[in-house]
Amino acid sequence: MEKRDLLYDGTAKRIYTTDDEHVLLVSYKDIATDFFGLKMSTIPGKGAICNRVSNHLMTVLENAGIATHFLSESSETDCLVRRVKIIPLAVIVRNISAGAFAKRYGVEEGIVFDEPTIEFYLKNDMLGDPLINTYHAVALKIESRERIEEMKALAFRINEILKAYFQSVRIHLVDFRMEFGLTEDGTLVLADEISPDTCRLWDIDTHFRLDKDRFRLDMEQMDAGYHEILRRLLGNA
Ligand code: TYD
Repeated sequence: MEKRDLLYDGTAKRIYTTDDEHVLLVSYKDIATDFFGLKMSTIPGKGAICNRVSNHLMTVLENAGIATHFLSESSETDCLVRRVKIIPLAVIVRNISAGAFAKRYGVEEGIVFDEPTIEFYLKNDMLGDPLINTYHAVALKIESRERIEEMKALAFRINEILKAYFQSVRIHLVDFRMEFGLTEDGTLVLADEISPDTCRLWDIDTHFRLDKDRFRLDMEQMDAGYHEILRRLLGNA
């Protein structure tokens, strides 16, 4: 598959068209930023790790019957995905309190919930991705109520599969962010990435943080988590 035009140049990845109009190429970068873009630096090898981990998790999900946009890994840092219409809602599922949730509600991190929670954020850079509820999303005609219910159910199924999978390598899936897209025939599929950049992952035994929080919180061994996740999920493959 030939890479053609640059479609989108984000902080962590670039998206290109290819010679197949239904296929896009995603190229991961080594750049790390906090979610506000205030802090930025290069973590060598991060792009390859996020690419490989995300492709691996998408494959795990596909094997469990979840439709995703993932097609194939085309190099260490690149993959091919189905071109879909991205729904402009970021979906966050949480199993344990942390980050913005702990801050917003004034609770400590690490509270294990009886049931997972879900939040939607409107993807809009100018507005800073505000929190949005499903009534607002329907009022704004972003998607129908039925489609949003379908997204919720799919997000919770994905959470159950990934939670159990991470558990098997002694990792807590604390919370994670998803984006969904629609194929030409209107099928809802998981899109974007699932990686240490978009998940909070804590070692079950030591509580060591294995995700992007090391970078955001200026912790020691900033890149240790990325390498450890790759090792646990893919061995030395
Ligand atoms: P959240 O706790 O809502 O925000 P923050 O990490 O800023 O405290 O984040 C929940 C999960 O979503 C976490 O695993 C990181 C991920 N996430 C992203 O991947 N991109 C984003 O822009 C945000 C805000 C969160």
